[in-house]
Amino acid sequence: MKYDVLIIGAGIAGLYSAMNIPKEKSVLVVCKDIPWECNTFYAQGGMVTALDENDIDLHVKDTMEAGAYHNNRDSVEILSRTSLETTKDIIERGMKFDVDEDGEILYTKEAAHSTKRIVHAGGDATGRYMHYFMMLENSHKLQRNTLVYDLLIEDGRCFGVKALVNYKHQTIYADDVIIASGGVGSLYEYNTNSRTVSADIHGICVEKGIELADMEMMQFHPTVFVKTPFARKLLLTEALRGEGAWVVDEDGKRFLFDYDERGELASRDIVSRAIFKHNRDTGKEVYLDFSMFEEKWFHERFPNITRTFDAIGYSFPKDRVPISPAFHYAVGGIKCDTHGCVEGIDGLYVIGEASSTGVHGANRLASNSLLEGVVFGKRAVEHILAKEKVEIKIPNFDKEYRNIVHHGNDIIYKKRLRKIMWEEMGVIRTKEGLLNAKNAIYDMKNRDIGRLLELRLNTASAIVESALKRKDSLGTHYIEN
Ligand code: SIN
Repeated sequence: MKYDVLIIGAGIAGLYSAMNIPKEKSVLVVCKDIPWECNTFYAQGGMVTALDENDIDLHVKDTMEAGAYHNNRDSVEILSRTSLETTKDIIERGMKFDVDEDGEILYTKEAAHSTKRIVHAGGDATGRYMHYFMMLENSHKLQRNTLVYDLLIEDGRCFGVKALVNYKHQTIYADDVIIASGGVGSLYEYNTNSRTVSADIHGICVEKGIELADMEMMQFHPTVFVKTPFARKLLLTEALRGEGAWVVDEDGKRFLFDYDERGELASRDIVSRAIFKHNRDTGKEVYLDFSMFEEKWFHERFPNITRTFDAIGYSFPKDRVPISPAFHYAVGGIKCDTHGCVEGIDGLYVIGEASSTGVHGANRLASNSLLEGVVFGKRAVEHILAKEKVEIKIPNFDKEYRNIVHHGNDIIYKKRLRKIMWEEMGVIRTKEGLLNAKNAIYDMKNRDIGRLLELRLNTASAIVESALKRKDSLGTHYIEN
């Protein structure tokens, strides 16, 4: 099997890339499980777009400020400027964002945005509406149950992947491979991510010496309901605070103002830390309070959240709900340029959450992630289509792999890893905790383990090593002495 382009991942970045490749090209999009098990599907708040030319400078400023000015300014400017054309393109193709009674697009606001510039769909179900739309728009073959466990790289070129397809080993060759596999959520005990997002491809990159960047920058979402037995914890979108919801402690105190004058609308790293510290230092439970909202309006604006929480016994907006920060988004990732090219490896691209273009700096501005997926997905495809095709003889890739999926005690070690990452590489870190994590990861790597766990441990190790290198706090990386 040889394709022109192989795309690993069927979230917004992978699907929008596929949509931009002409039908005549042979393209295969693969996903690990069912296509809607991806982070795009669970995105609630919306997608940022610059409102017009005049908003670009302000959007760039908000993105850089949230990112603690650790951002690559070129990437941020590309993100904001290109949003004008990508949002227009998506709407012209037929995507229906929420509109008012006159048919005008409704924009919302989230924390650290200076203005309302976030488009949304289905109220609080933007991700699933966009994902469904792009699944229908993609005309290329989409193959599920395809678990990539190696990249075929030799002499500075990528030739394809090794994968388990419906549990059978297959080699898939391609002239160009786009990694759009998302972040690292499954490494954390508390996370908001799809269960399929487990850092495998990052782990392969570590093995092959491909550079990861800013891996200490792991973002925690401040308002998550974690009291469920399931791996994916329930997100309460930042748009709730954007519309006016409060964060209170069990005495009803809006304590966030003790930490930042913007209160609920401070950037995500600041709010997460304040909630974490307040709970740790006072022992008081923290809640999200919606009691200021009118019931009918709330149910129409947040239908998805209303239904999900109704099923577990909460009646919104009347009931307040206990919250905690939880891992949400990998700001760092596989290093690439602003066309998604991975340096030193021809034919290998990375886009979306898996990538690191430096666009998010040290902390991602809310709802810039869906936008990142479309903007950099489009740019990677433009780069691929502009290249001259050269025929290169494919080398032999006949390495033997054993125990790809599970082995012995993997399940116990995976649980241990998730706990360590949450406790030591979480919202607040200490040098001692990071060294504990490093030792524990090293210990597990030296056990008799399967390949997927080995890949997870590679990525975890890269995260901890990056955190150890950064001595001072910055953005999402907060170190307490
Ligand atoms: C949210 O809806 O709060 C999540 C949006 C994001 O992660 O940008």
